[in-house]
Amino acid sequence: MPEKLVHLITAVRPNFMKIAPLSHALRREPWARAVLVHTGQHYDLNMSDVFFRDLGLSAPDHNLEVGSGPHGEQTGQVMARYERLLMEERPDVVVVPGDVNSTLGCTLAAVKMGVKVAHLEAGLRSFDRTMPEEINRVVTDAVADLLWTPSPDADENLAREGVPPERIERIGNIMIDSLEMLREVIEADGSRERLGLDERGYVLTTLHRPANVDDPAVLARICGGLCAIAHDTPVCFPVHPRTAARLDAAGLRGTLADCGVRLMEPLGYTSFMNLVFGAKLVLTDSGGVQGESTYLGIPCLTVRPRIEQSAAALRGANRLIDSAQVAAAVRDVLQRGMPRSSPPPLWDGCAAPRAVASLKRFLFPAEQAAAGTPRSKRTA
Ligand code: UD1
Ligand code: UDP
Repeated sequence: MPEKLVHLITAVRPNFMKIAPLSHALRREPWARAVLVHTGQHYDLNMSDVFFRDLGLSAPDHNLEVGSGPHGEQTGQVMARYERLLMEERPDVVVVPGDVNSTLGCTLAAVKMGVKVAHLEAGLRSFDRTMPEEINRVVTDAVADLLWTPSPDADENLAREGVPPERIERIGNIMIDSLEMLREVIEADGSRERLGLDERGYVLTTLHRPANVDDPAVLARICGGLCAIAHDTPVCFPVHPRTAARLDAAGLRGTLADCGVRLMEPLGYTSFMNLVFGAKLVLTDSGGVQGESTYLGIPCLTVRPRIEQSAAALRGANRLIDSAQVAAAVRDVLQRGMPRSSPPPLWDGCAAPRAVASLKRFLFPAEQAAAGTPRSKRTA
């Protein structure tokens, strides 16, 4: 089989745990040459570099160093810089994960040059177009060639938008591959003990959605809720850089610290997951953290009106709440618990091999036809 050049895109924190399992699996395939392209949308040591170490990723082959900026500028920088790389190195396919500005920028640059695009985590919809991620998802799915979905609701969303079934392959949730790959390392990490937190004795929180942190009134309301909880139960809060800037601007960092909320820098993957493993409850607005806590059966309260992963996929241990309900909802779950969920189908640690098999079928249609394998072989 002739060698195929595969670009794997990373950009922001939640991309690393989606791309790492695919990168490891592709490197075992003789036909694949995987090249890691980091757009540099996230660039701090603890938002980027630490994940290469934790997830066993080699340093990126290319770093586009786009950094931060308003949506148009950031997406435009990704397009312009990735286009230049595409002209030098014409990959056979580009894998774009998730729904961030770099996902959209790389997709647009590639499809306009006739380079094939596979979208990892396709088909999720919040049906809320005020979220920048929803725009990125809808546009990426409209133009990408191969759509890897995590759950049946994602397939249904794509079908409703008129995507032909042969472009869709359900592979499951690839973040769970990283979790299972590192389960023992996570369990042995020791971060919870080092912080003096008892198992099932604390609330872990992360917040970074613009709707929760950019409006000082909403942020103050959520901080009020966190303070009320910290009165009785330790609250551990690794702070995303967007949120850190907003807390500082609103003068809320001191307020949280004074009421005992344990503020800390963003954590590496194994340290953070060690805290998830031991938590009594997770309070978050993160898509990834919802998925991980649901998979683990840790109760999760999500401070968002809508989510892109359907209730069917995240059944059980995940409840959506309003920013005004934080303290009451946490108290309720601490006292009464939540029903335990079972992991959704295909959230099983084997999504990366399914993606690799799908990519092989996509890149070698003639060989597959000769072997009698249909081009699209969806996983039921
Ligand atoms: C981005 C994604 C969001 C995803 C999140 C994961 C978009 C539109 N948003 O949001 O979907 O859930 O990443 O964490 O793509 N900053 C730093 N250091 C860094 C990175 C960011 O200080 O390494 C600060 C900068 O001030 C920047 C701000 O955080 O302006 C926001 O970063 P940006 O990447 O634009 O958006 P996120 O809120 O991180
Ligand atoms: N995460 C981490 N350290 C932290 C907070 C989160 O490693 O301090 C991991 C988390 O386990 C999940 C991913 O980052 O795998 C989620 O990223 P984020 O919340 O930034 O983005 P989202 O999933 O909301 O797009």
